[in-house]
Amino acid sequence: MLKIIRARDYKDMSRKAANIISAQIILKNDSVLGLATGSTPIGIYNTLAHWCDKGDLDFSQVKTVNLDEYVGLPAYHDQSYYYFMRENLFKKVNIDINNTHLPDGTAENAEEECERYHNVIESMGGIDLQLLGIGNNGHIGFNEPSDIFETKVHKVELTESTIQANSRLFDSIDDVPRYAYTMGIGEIMSAKQILIVASGKAKAPIVKELIEGPVTPKVPASILKFHGNVTLIADEDAMSLV
Ligand code: GLP
Repeated sequence: MLKIIRARDYKDMSRKAANIISAQIILKNDSVLGLATGSTPIGIYNTLAHWCDKGDLDFSQVKTVNLDEYVGLPAYHDQSYYYFMRENLFKKVNIDINNTHLPDGTAENAEEECERYHNVIESMGGIDLQLLGIGNNGHIGFNEPSDIFETKVHKVELTESTIQANSRLFDSIDDVPRYAYTMGIGEIMSAKQILIVASGKAKAPIVKELIEGPVTPKVPASILKFHGNVTLIADEDAMSLV
């Protein structure tokens, strides 16, 4: 069952989500957080960094595993998810960088990298709280619409719609990587708690589909409705079609 929290706007969504994540860290200071990239969580990370800066939050024991990474982008590339996480969160809070994990976009052997990253997630002993955004086509992480739910970390060919959507952040659409590594649906669903956030009118059709539509691998996020502790925080614009 999907719990739904309506937020007024982007700022309200960000603060509500940050409150839930900070409660998790306060209740368990060595929490394992599953983290997401994209434009949507930036306000959440800014809020968490602000609270950490004020001394209200302590990341020193927190461990993180990110959902995904582009294949082919090195960590120093300004569109890599490693770079995103460092700029938007890791360098702003007192986290031990050795406790942060992402797939390695430059790994030579894709199969080995998927296995390695799966083992990293397993070795954490389970994700306490997984943060998710949602793609316009219903993807979570980079689990694209498909005929099946892929359970484990895998290399995925990005759909044209995702390449198009993410091209806004690159100089040209030709620079957008065609492949990515992503956590699988099984690893995401194993998290004890899941928080999915959505903001803006562009997300309204997929949020409506998520809430009202059937569970199908054509809309990967729809599987979340089978999770026992999942909360959607969406602002008024994202909820405007519901
Ligand atoms: C990206 C990421 C997802 C993210 C989604 C939405 O492709 N792989 O994890 O949730 O797209 O991004 P945004 O928040 O920028 O709309």
